[in-house]
Order: sequence, then structure tokens, then C-alpha cells
Amino acid sequence: MSYADKIFVDMCRDILDNGTSTEGEKVRPHWPDGTPAYTIKKFGVVNRYDLRQEFPLITLRKTALKSATDEMLWIWQKKSNNINDLGSHIWDEWADPDGSIGKAYGYQMGVKHQYKEGMMDQTDRVIYDLKNNPFSRRIMTNIYVHQDLHEMNLYPCAYSMTFNVTQRKGEDKLTLNGILNQRSQDVLAANNWNVAQYAMLLHMLAQVCDMNVGEFVHVIADAHIYDRHVPLIEELITRKQYLAPKVTLNPDIHDFYEFTKDDVTVTDYVTGEQIKDIPIAISEEKYMNAIVAVDSNWAIGNKGQLLIRIPADQKRFREITTGGVVVLGRKTMDTFPQKKPLPNRTNIILSTNEEYKVTDAVVVHSIEQLIDELKSYPDDCIYIIGGDSVYKQMLPYCDKVYVTKIDREYEADTYYPNLDEDPDWKIVFESEEQTYFDTTYTFVDYERVKPQA
Ligand SMILES: NC(=O)c1ccc[n+]([C@@H]2O[C@H](COP(=O)([O-])OP(=O)(O)OC[C@H]3O[C@@H](n4cnc5c(N)ncnc54)[C@H](OP(=O)(O)O)[C@@H]3O)[C@@H](O)[C@H]2O)c1
Repeated sequence: MSYADKIFVDMCRDILDNGTSTEGEKVRPHWPDGTPAYTIKKFGVVNRYDLRQEFPLITLRKTALKSATDEMLWIWQKKSNNINDLGSHIWDEWADPDGSIGKAYGYQMGVKHQYKEGMMDQTDRVIYDLKNNPFSRRIMTNIYVHQDLHEMNLYPCAYSMTFNVTQRKGEDKLTLNGILNQRSQDVLAANNWNVAQYAMLLHMLAQVCDMNVGEFVHVIADAHIYDRHVPLIEELITRKQYLAPKVTLNPDIHDFYEFTKDDVTVTDYVTGEQIKDIPIAISEEKYMNAIVAVDSNWAIGNKGQLLIRIPADQKRFREITTGGVVVLGRKTMDTFPQKKPLPNRTNIILSTNEEYKVTDAVVVHSIEQLIDELKSYPDDCIYIIGGDSVYKQMLPYCDKVYVTKIDREYEADTYYPNLDEDPDWKIVFESEEQTYFDTTYTFVDYERVKPQA
């Protein structure tokens, strides 16, 4: 039986039986319906794979080794941060419209640093040391670069490799071992994928440095199973296990930069059925805004209408949202002059009516469809503009809310959640008091208190 299966099953059993739940904690990941995505987690999981014995692919379900290799080469060899250089679509949701994921992953591997031997990036430094100074205890990479975190669309999860070379008794060739440090891992979606990638990296580097492969150690600080993955994991780990497949690399490649995914051959890979449509939690870095006018009771409307129209408030609304994407419900759309979308903005309207169409606007029919549509726009230009039902459904996706607080009590039938009473929100800006005839109001910006990642 594949040893990777045994490690995977033991790890999952341990997480399920002995892990701690994040339920009740402030967690940002959520499911597309807005429910918080809680996990059962284990701190400090350490898995050791002896690459001399077999290549660590689980057989419980298939791991697409060529695609996993392609992504690893995208980071380590192409040193790219652009999804257009990648064969798969796993990074699409994190990419800007031009395809960049910011200063993350491959970008960091490609940054050149000054060493006494000259300027080198991290991949070249590793290869240089393995060839020239193999017993060094400093052969390591790190892409969790604090100074650039604010420009990364997702903070790196698998962030550091430490290479360590041993001379085994009676062997001519040196042995290359490696430790992968990972801060966080969604076990069902990514465990074997990452294991296969870094095992492959060790195989490739060993081949080009004329070494044997040794051990691969995977250290995961937060190894977690999402609540909605538990039944899938329970089923997966009881499946039949098969022998590990045979994985070989094209032996003619002696330069790391010449490897492609097609130099990998997998034979005799018998597996259980693939799990289709694994629900993926929307992760913590998604970020949208809401903009709303409330009275002193957080009321927002009455009988389908706004409570009051204040010209300076409407001007501020225009200034904030112009050039961006506004998301609204069909009923709010119906209150717009001539029922026309707002100019100079992409209007996305929610309606259950499949026949409903609006010129110059996008219509979506569910929150899932909306989230999918919003993937094509940068997060920070998306504004949820109401009404009541859309505000409530989209609040879990928002990190910032621009509130116009009107210092009056109106007769009302719809309310916004009171952010002053919610410890998840804090005020980050408050304007001077403004007046409109006898009405006073202030502009108050709220930001979600970020949970500890
Ligand atoms: N104070 C403010 O800043 C502010 C801003 C905007 C609105 N408002 C107020 O809010 C009130 C309107 O709120 P509302 O809740 O009645 O209307 P709404 O949220 O504007 O629109 C509700 C409609 O949106 C569609 N919809 C909502 N969720 C959906 C989903 N998950 N999937 C598909 N379609 C979905 C449905 O359209 P179909 O019926 O076509 O299926 C639903 O009837 C009004 O009083 C308005 O003045 C206040």
C-alpha cells in the first residue's frame, strides 16, 4: 500500500479525533452562502516521507502530478507571479485583471539578492550551494517577506524550504533531503498536492546536482479540515488503498531550467474515484465594501423608499463608487430614475427572475453566481449598495462599510446591522458633523477587525 496513504489517513484521523474546532472563533473564510467556514485543526503536524522508498502520491484519490509539477515549476523555475504562465486555473481567483497575483510566490523566488558570490535569486542560490557547498546548513528559501505582504494577493502558505545534504555510508553520491514549512493547509484540497510538488522539487534538484533523494519532511503549523469537508474526509480515508505508483523523471535533463511537466512519467497509478466539486471556502483576503445611509436606529428604508435624500451624501456616494462595481438588488434598481443603471460604474443586479434584463448592466441570479462574476474585478473597487436583502447577504464578504449616519429617527421597516454593537467592526474614520437644513449627519467608515491568521 502507498505509504503516503498511511500518512494521510493517520493525519486526518488525528485531526478529526484530537484536533480543536475553530467554531465560535472570529474566522474570515466563509462558504458562498455566507456561513462562516470553521475548521477542525491540529497544530504542528510533521510528516516524514522517505523518497528513496517510493514517490509520495496517495491512491485514495488521484493527485494530478503533472499539474502539481507545473505549478511548482511556475514558482521555482519560471519565478512567475502571472497566471498566464500557468497551465491550470487554481490561481485565477487571486489574480488581478492583468493576471498578476502580486509580489507573491514566484515573484519572491525571482528577486535577486546580493551575496558575496554576486547577485542571485533564491532558486539559483540553492542550486549554487548544492553544487558548491552542499554541506552548508544555510541552504534555504523564504518567500514570506513581510515588507511585501501588503502587495501579495494571498500570503504564501508553503513559504520556506530548507535543504540538507547527507553523506550516507557506502554511497558515492550525496543525499538531498528537504523540509517544507507551511503555515496553513486545507488538508482535503491541498495536502497531497503540496507533498507531491515538493517531493518532485527534491527529485529534480537531486538529479541536476547529481545526488540521490533522501527524506522529505513536511511541517504544517495549522493543518485543518473544513467543517463541510468532514464527511468527505471520513469517506476518503476508509477507501481501498493501492500500491504507490512508479514516478520517473527524464534522465537526460541536467539543468533545472530545462525541466517541464512532460519530463515526469507516472505509471501504475491505480486510485479511488476523484472527489468532484470539493466546496472551497472563500478565503480571508477577499475584500469588498458596502456603502449605506442609516438613521440613529440604523434604519435604511421605509415602504421600499430611502428615508431621506441628502445631496452631499449622494455626491459622496458618487465619488466613492464612480469607476467601480456596484452590486444591488432588483428592488433598489427599480427605485433609480427611469430604472436605469448608475452611469460610469459596472452595475451588477441580483434577481431570481431569469427573464430579467437591464441594458448596460449585468444580472445574476444567486449569490454563488454573483461571487463568480465578481472574480473578474479587483476586490477593492466592489461596492454593495443595497437594499436590505443584498446588504445582509453580502456583509460577510465586506471588510469596509462607508456609513452616512443621520442624526434622526425615521419611521422605517428595514434596518442595517448595527455595526457599533458588533465587536467585529471598528470605526476608522469619522467626519465633522454636516448639516442639511435641520438634519445633521456624519460620514463614518468602519473596517472589519481582522482575525489572527
Ligand atoms: N439607506 C440606504 O443606503 C439604502 C440603499 C439601498 C436601498 N435601501 C432601501 O432598501 C430597501 C430595499 O431593500 P429590499 O431588500 O426590499 O430590496 P433589494 O435588496 O434592493 O432587492 C431585493 C431583490 O433582489 C433580488 N435578490 C436578493 N437576493 C437575491 C439572491 N440571493 N438571489 C437572487 N436574487 C436576489 C430579488 O429580486 P427578484 O424579486 O427580482 O427576484 C429580491 O426581491 C428600500 O427601502 C430601499 O430604499 C436603502
